[in-house]
Amino acid sequence: MRSLLKFLNRILPTPLKSLLTKTLGAALFYFGYKPKQFHNTLPLRKLLNTSFFDYYFYKTRRLNSEELNNKFWKEWGAKYLASFNQTPIPEYYLKEIENLIETKNVKTVFELGCGFLRHLEHLANKYPHLELYGVDITPEIVDHAKALNNPHIKVFVDDVRNIEKYRDILKKAGLIFSYGIFAYLNPVDLEKVCGIIQKHFRGYVVYNDASQKRDLSELIKSIKLSSQSYIHPYPKIFKKYGLEEISSGYSPDKESFNFIGKQHKKNRC
Ligand SMILES: C[S@@+](CC[C@H](N)C(=O)[O-])C[C@H]1O[C@@H](n2cnc3c(N)ncnc32)[C@H](O)[C@@H]1O
Repeated sequence: MRSLLKFLNRILPTPLKSLLTKTLGAALFYFGYKPKQFHNTLPLRKLLNTSFFDYYFYKTRRLNSEELNNKFWKEWGAKYLASFNQTPIPEYYLKEIENLIETKNVKTVFELGCGFLRHLEHLANKYPHLELYGVDITPEIVDHAKALNNPHIKVFVDDVRNIEKYRDILKKAGLIFSYGIFAYLNPVDLEKVCGIIQKHFRGYVVYNDASQKRDLSELIKSIKLSSQSYIHPYPKIFKKYGLEEISSGYSPDKESFNFIGKQHKKNRC
């Protein structure tokens, strides 16, 4: 059964997989399967190898965005990240980051929503001269930082909405990058975070959101996907907060949306 699912997962096109998993989820929901805790969905997530169960879990639990921050990440974030961390870092994303580090004389890097440090660990190994910082709301990131025991990586357990506290890091960072966290912020909070970045940071930004399937540049407003996740019109929001776009668009596999920009000194508010 497991190898049949793996095989199907490999050969089926993404839209069909998404339709099938949604139908299966709807059927499970209809017959009363309502996981009480996120990690109860992990065996199914593993079997189907799909992010659908994130969506399914949120939908059935109907968390609002405050609950998401105060409950989900703090209580179950570690379980979520344990499975998330098994996915390899997308190559095109890493390439953009490495290209900026190598060509723009970047010395300090700040990752927003660093999770279990898969990016920071890679960068620390490849570029031992970098000063690396990460912030994330899931408390267990600290255990991962301790296990790595790398003096060049420093992490903070905090909500990205409190980023003003880290203005000294923002001021000296040459690159900020982030993978898949802004979708969890509501539009007001996202703009607040972008405003703080504009105030203190001048350098390069690489942002990716793994869950996007639409051409965001055509969207005018944020779209609420579920009780706590959004598709945001990133190019428009980033531009409003002074980021000059270098490039943006779908990833080569069309699974996610990628944005690269620069915050100029003259754009600081
Ligand atoms: C999809 S995971 C991505 C993790 C990491 N960027 C990676 O690629 O491995 C989303 C991450 O965003 C973090 N997160 C969600 N909301 C956050 C918030 N308000 N402040 C800080 N981190 C947040 C979660 O704890 C989680 O680690």
